[in-house]
Amino acid sequence: MSTRHRPPVEARVYVPAPGEASDVELLPAGDVTEGVVRVGRTTRRPHQPQSLAVAEYLDWLEDAGFDGSPRYLGRDAQGRDVLTFMAGQCAGPVPEPWVQSEDLLASVARLVRRLHAASAGYEPRAHPFPERPSLPGHGLQDQARRTRPPEAGTLVCHLDVTPQNVVVRDDAAVGLIDFDLAGPATALRDSYNAAMHWAPLRDPADAWPGWEDVDPCRRLRIFADAYGWDEEERCRIPGFGIEAAGASYERMRHNAEVLGGGWARMWADGVGGLILRRRDWLDANAGRLVRALSG
Ligand SMILES: Nc1ncnc2c1ncn2[C@@H]1O[C@H](COP(=O)(O)OP(=O)(O)OP(=O)(O)O)[C@@H](O)[C@H]1O
Ligand SMILES: [Mg+2]
Repeated sequence: MSTRHRPPVEARVYVPAPGEASDVELLPAGDVTEGVVRVGRTTRRPHQPQSLAVAEYLDWLEDAGFDGSPRYLGRDAQGRDVLTFMAGQCAGPVPEPWVQSEDLLASVARLVRRLHAASAGYEPRAHPFPERPSLPGHGLQDQARRTRPPEAGTLVCHLDVTPQNVVVRDDAAVGLIDFDLAGPATALRDSYNAAMHWAPLRDPADAWPGWEDVDPCRRLRIFADAYGWDEEERCRIPGFGIEAAGASYERMRHNAEVLGGGWARMWADGVGGLILRRRDWLDANAGRLVRALSG
């Protein structure tokens, strides 16, 4: 490991490899960050308020021996963040049929588990993660008050393990990318979020084309077993998901209003309705989900 001669993240300058400037590829656009490109064996991303916090976390993961995240290499001459490019495939906006593989699903759960093990003990020092907006306690949150407010938590984790943010090789998850939403949370929050994206847990009316016949309960069980949720966590999942949907609805609305850009685009495209339908679906199927997870 090259940790001894690594300058602090804020002083790290990327020195280009010979010839890489002629090997440039625009990477598939996500919802929010624009202009992500591959240059040679690196990824270049616009520098963002959370970039240095993420960079320090990626250093910690490297030192912890975790091989499932990019390395932060510094900033290039244009000021962009430079990370190692992880070879493999990521899902497109509508996840392709290969994303349905149950072996892949289990490997995602194991990779998230390994991330959590590697993250244990990490405390941001020089560069804390930017505060998430504190959300007003009204509206949807009120309706969900029978459950507790989202736990703050102290385990730094990814928090956006979507099919588009997982690098896959030979039907197995080998990398997590796009740590833009990383920050302190809990293992259950991050693992639930990953399972929610990968099962996926959503109203059948919102199924991706080609995913209509996929059984989310079966897939949730596969994730639970591979990650290692205990019985108590399994029983909490529906309530936890309902609460998470409430928080997510408020956060998306806040981001759309305050940050605009891709957030406003997602909001205009109806992501709020999708989240509410997910919440109602979780509520209506709570018993079925717990039965699938237990026994
Ligand atoms: N380090 C990497 N290794 C391999 N592929 C990458 C890497 N970084 C990005 N990609 C590819 O580029 C795509 C977009 O990159 P990334 O997820 O970092 O940004 P984004 O999705 O545009 O950001 P956001 O989700 O914030 O809108 C990924 O889905 C993946 O296909
Ligand atoms: Mg992404």
